[in-house]
Amino acid sequence: MVIKYQAVKGVKDILPGEIEKWQFMEKTAREVFELYGFSEIRIPIFEMTAVFTRSIGETTDIVEKEMYTFPDRSGDSLTLRPEGTASVVRAYVEHNLYNPPSVVKLYYMGPMFRCERPQAGRYRQFYQIGVEVFGTENPEIDAEVIGMLLKYFEKLGLKELELQINSLGCDECRPKFREALLEFLKNKINLLCEDCQKRFERNPLRIFDCKSVSCHDATKEAPTIEGYRCDNCKSHFNSTINFLDKLNIPYVKNPKLVRGLDYYTKTAFEIISKGLGSQNAIAGGGRYDKLVEEFGGPPTPAFGFAIGVDRTATLIQPSVLTPQSPIPPVFIASLGERASQKSFELINNFRQNGIRAERDYEKGSLKSQLRKANKFGVRYTIIIGDNELDKGKAILRDMTGSQQEEIDIDIDKIVEIIAKKNSRQSLP
Ligand code: HAM
Repeated sequence: MVIKYQAVKGVKDILPGEIEKWQFMEKTAREVFELYGFSEIRIPIFEMTAVFTRSIGETTDIVEKEMYTFPDRSGDSLTLRPEGTASVVRAYVEHNLYNPPSVVKLYYMGPMFRCERPQAGRYRQFYQIGVEVFGTENPEIDAEVIGMLLKYFEKLGLKELELQINSLGCDECRPKFREALLEFLKNKINLLCEDCQKRFERNPLRIFDCKSVSCHDATKEAPTIEGYRCDNCKSHFNSTINFLDKLNIPYVKNPKLVRGLDYYTKTAFEIISKGLGSQNAIAGGGRYDKLVEEFGGPPTPAFGFAIGVDRTATLIQPSVLTPQSPIPPVFIASLGERASQKSFELINNFRQNGIRAERDYEKGSLKSQLRKANKFGVRYTIIIGDNELDKGKAILRDMTGSQQEEIDIDIDKIVEIIAKKNSRQSLP
C-alpha cells in the first residue's frame, strides 16, 4: 500500500504566494516594536512541562487538554510551547535580565502548539508575534503598548477592529468575586455544559468564555469583577482607560472578558476583528504582575500581548504588500552542450554580481525556452548557441519588442551590459 503523506491535522504549510504576507507582518513588527524600544528574544520551541503548567494554570484548557507533552529519552517531561509568555519569563529570570529602574522590553515571533479541535482560524501549530514589558506597574505602559499594537495593525491596513478591555483584579479582590460568582451559579449548575460543570469548582471565571448557549444564558445576570475591584485595581483601570483616551484609542469595556491563561492580574484585553467568524480574536494580552516572582525572580510587574499571525494574515489585502523589486531577472537560453556549459558559468556570474538570473534546466527548444523566459517576466534574454559560441558571440534579445543584437561572449562584459540596462530601467 502506498502511504499518502500529508501534513498532520491542524497543521499547514505556508506556501509562496501566501508567505509574502507573513514576511510583511514580521518586517512591520520589527520596525514598529523597535521604534518603541523593544529588542528581539528567541525562546526555545520546547521547555520543561512545569514552565507552562505553573504559569498558564493547572486548571486551564491549555494545560488540561491542549499541550503536546512528551517524555524525552531521559524521561523528563517536555512540552511544545503553547504560548510565549511563560518562556520569556523563564528566560528573564534565568538570565537575570532585570534592570531597574529601566523597563525591559522584549518581542518574539514563531510557532506555538495547542492540540485544539481544528477549524477555520484555529490550528494545532499556529504562529504568534508577541511582546512583553517587565519592570513597571505604571498604567501608561498598558495604554502605550496597546497603542503600539493598534499602530501595528494600522500599518498592516487592518480595519474594523475592536479593542475589548477589562481589569481582572488582583489576589486581594478576585477571590471575593470568585466567591460571589460561585454563590450565583450554585443553583444553576445543571444548566451548564459538561465542561463548565467541571469548571465550576476548578476555574469558574472561565465559564464566561464558554461558547455554549446554555452557559451564556446561565451567566447573563451573573456578577462581574466590576463590582468587586479593590481601590488599587479600580484606580489602575481608570488610569489605563484615561491614557487610552489621551491616545484617542476607542475601546469597549467588557467586564465579562476573561482570558484562557490564569496568570493575568488587572488589565486584560483582546482585539477582535469584525471580519472574522467565531475565531475572531486576533490578539490578546494583559498584565501579569506576579509571574516573575512565581518563577523565582524579584517582584516585577509585567505586561504583554500576542498576535495570532494566522488569523491576521487572512485580513491582509495584497495591495498593502510592498511590491517586489521592479527589476525582472535576466534569462539565459542555451542551445547545445557547450553553450549550456557557458550558460552555467554566466548564470553564476550574474548572481555573484547581484543580478537575478534564470534558465531552463531541461534545455528544451529555443521556442520553449523563450516561453519560459516570458513566464518569468524577464526583460532581457541572452541566447547562446554552440554555433555563436564558436564565433565568440551571443544574442541579447529585448523581450518587450523582440529586438535582438549580437554581443561578445565575454562573461564579465555581458554582466556589465545587463547591469547598465537594469539601472536605466530602475530610474524613475
Ligand atoms: P492567547 O489569547 O492565548 O494569549 O493567544 C493570543 C492570540 O493567538 C489569540 O488572540 C489568537 O489570535 C492566537 N491563537 C491562539 N490559539 C490559536 C490557535 N489554536 N490557532 C490560531 N491562532 C491562535 C497568549 O498566548 C498570551 N501569551 C498573550 C500574552 C502575552 N499575554 C501577555 N503577554
